[in-house]
Amino acid sequence: MVERTATGIEGLDRILEGGFPKGSVILLSGGSGTLKTILATQFIYNGGKQFKEPGVFVTVEESAKNIGWNIESFGWDIKSLEDKNLMKIYRLKLTPERDIKAQIDEELKMISELVQKIGAKRLVIDSTTAFGIWIKEPGDLRYMIFKFASELKELGCTTLLTAETKGGRTDFSAFGVEEFVVDGVLALYFSPPNRSVHVRKMRGTNHSKKVHPLEITKAGIEVKSKDEVLWESIK
Ligand SMILES: Nc1ncnc2c1ncn2[C@@H]1O[C@H](COP(=O)(O)OP(=O)(O)OP(=O)(O)O)[C@@H](O)[C@H]1O
Ligand SMILES: [Mg+2]
Repeated sequence: MVERTATGIEGLDRILEGGFPKGSVILLSGGSGTLKTILATQFIYNGGKQFKEPGVFVTVEESAKNIGWNIESFGWDIKSLEDKNLMKIYRLKLTPERDIKAQIDEELKMISELVQKIGAKRLVIDSTTAFGIWIKEPGDLRYMIFKFASELKELGCTTLLTAETKGGRTDFSAFGVEEFVVDGVLALYFSPPNRSVHVRKMRGTNHSKKVHPLEITKAGIEVKSKDEVLWESIK
């Protein structure tokens, strides 16, 4: 039996037959505004709140203030999780003035220390797409993403890497490499007015092959595991 890390989003756990395989690295992909950041925040928040599992949220592009908006609008009490060392938010800072590879090594070390410090079982990197701003050469970029994902995997956390796509149905990453270095891909879609989610790949577990509607409520994200969206309706 594969051990699971439940997301705490009931419908999503149902279509994953219990949650993400424990310790896996998952790509959370989707176009702009498809709820990647909100889902990833909820994954860490539920981890602390419902399962007492510590989590680290690494934000690469958005300011801590933007995460604050999500937290406030859903009434998530993150401060008390932070006080109990059940959650840490870390802002990854890169500068064009120094060697990017060295900076990424340093940041990996910082993340690893934070994970060890609070005994994190969950980790989010939001987003991997931001690396493209600093690394221009496609070969270098692929190598760095590969290295980043492999080193994070060593930390043993169930990890979500978000990736912004152009929004197409079969477009899963910004650089065309992320989907190959991860254990699973969860695709988010927004074809106005409908939002949906699809498990594209998940090593080590069976899962729903359907596209399921996803809604945003006062409490955060809800996935309708019994309902289906037609593949053809997604643009
Ligand atoms: N309180 C709320 N109630 C309903 N919908 C909300 C609420 N807060 C945010 N949203 C919706 O969530 C969207 C933003 O979600 P999120 O930031 O998770 O998207 P994203 O996929 O991370 O986008 P990006 O590619 O810009 O990082 C908004 O565009 C809005 O439609
Ligand atoms: Mg985002």
